[in-house]
Amino acid sequence: MDFSELLRRRTVRRFAQEPLKKEEVRAILEAARLASCAANLQRLRYIAVMEPSLVAAILPHTAFGMMVHPKRQPVAGVTSPTAFIAVCSTCDPNESLHADAGAAIQSMEFAAWNLGIGATWLGSHKQAEIAALLDVEKPGRILYMVALGRPGETPCREDVDADASVKYYLDADDCIHVPKYTVDAITTWK
Ligand SMILES: Cc1cc2nc3c(=O)[nH]c(=O)nc-3n(C[C@H](O)[C@H](O)[C@H](O)COP(=O)(O)O)c2cc1C
Repeated sequence: MDFSELLRRRTVRRFAQEPLKKEEVRAILEAARLASCAANLQRLRYIAVMEPSLVAAILPHTAFGMMVHPKRQPVAGVTSPTAFIAVCSTCDPNESLHADAGAAIQSMEFAAWNLGIGATWLGSHKQAEIAALLDVEKPGRILYMVALGRPGETPCREDVDADASVKYYLDADDCIHVPKYTVDAITTWK
């Protein structure tokens, strides 16, 4: 896939129920481990969850697409993700660790897209409940969850000017539209 195709990546919140292969998830994790990180400290750890009952147990502790109505929460066994990756810290999280997680997750999103796999970066999740399900013990902590699965929807991008709304929305055909500011709207050249 060339880079312009990769940039067409959009968050996917509805999934087909065909399971992912372990080597696909491993390829996504490969992108995470090679991402930039502060001082090359590599303080993130990952829990790859593919076991269907555990994936199902995690789902109610996540929140998808809270900005749209009706919300885009996947329906268990119908549009649910078929895997999760928990992005965990090995120490008390600080700003640079969240930046590391951002770099790693964006890399995973692109790696997934390259394989035809959809992903949702989940900041909204019940940390304690999922940590208990995954046996994450302090000082370790789940920073973010990433939901994965074969895409069951095709969101589309809209390029908008600086005065436009950037709220993503559902159209009458149940398709998510994602407004993105143009370069000119967000850049000052000096
Ligand atoms: C830090 C962060 C937290 C996010 N948390 C959630 C979340 O909890 N639920 C969700 O559905 N999407 C979540 N997203 C995905 C964003 O909603 C999505 O990236 C945004 O709407 C732009 O869409 P795009 O990824 O298709 O460009 C999160 C993204 C980021 C970077």
